[in-house]
Amino acid sequence: MNTEAQATVKVWDPLVRVFHWSLALFFVISYSTGEEESLVHPWSGYAIVTLLVFRLVWGFIGPKYARFSNFVYSPAEIAAYAKGMIKGDAPRYLGHNPLGGLMIVVMLLSLAATTTTGMLYYGAEEGKGPLAGVIAQQSITMPALISRAHADDDEHESAGDGDEKYEYLEELHEFFGNFTLLLVLIHLGGVLVGSVLHKESLVRAMWNGRKRAESQP
Ligand code: HEM
Repeated sequence: MNTEAQATVKVWDPLVRVFHWSLALFFVISYSTGEEESLVHPWSGYAIVTLLVFRLVWGFIGPKYARFSNFVYSPAEIAAYAKGMIKGDAPRYLGHNPLGGLMIVVMLLSLAATTTTGMLYYGAEEGKGPLAGVIAQQSITMPALISRAHADDDEHESAGDGDEKYEYLEELHEFFGNFTLLLVLIHLGGVLVGSVLHKESLVRAMWNGRKRAESQP
């Protein structure tokens, strides 16, 4: 047995690691191609949807540290951890710490909102993608709303801006994309603070799956 294997324990399974680095890559691709006409943006979005679906399932059936039950904490535990972090004496966790766990859930929800509004917009505006027809479907089942929407359309069209019907979806999609970017920046800050506080590279741990073995919650 080598000393490295004795001094560290396996925390992140290979699928969580592949999930994480693929998600980071596809987020960068998606965000930077948002204004382009090519298919790169929608397809990298679908890659993110696939990753999110995988992570949702893995959060219930995956190994110990991949499970939501391992990193979703009560508000009191999250607040206690945040206080400890400010004072510099927060306890070390082998899995995600309470604040990191909260951030992960919020990031996953924000990514889900970004991709859903993106697919709704793509479907409504271009008639393409898995959610094409969802908005039209709603109109059929809501006759009152549709007649009002038509009245609005006529007004817009006579004003020369008929394309604005689904602008709210585009704006929601942009809002969630930017909100996710903000969360990612906070996430990177949290990773840095956690690494300094516990004198270990959390980035390396997410890369090779291993963390220092010592007493922890
Ligand atoms: C270079 C950029 C990034 C670095 C260095 C990084 C680093 C890390 C690290 C070290 C962890 C583990 C935190 C812990 O020990 O508790 C983590 C987890 C996580 N990060 Fe990142 N991250 C990056 C980009 C991103 C991006 C762009 C996203 C989302 C769009 C993201 C989403 C997540 C998620 C969801 C987890 C939880 C992993 C899981 O349990 O499935 N990260 N990240």
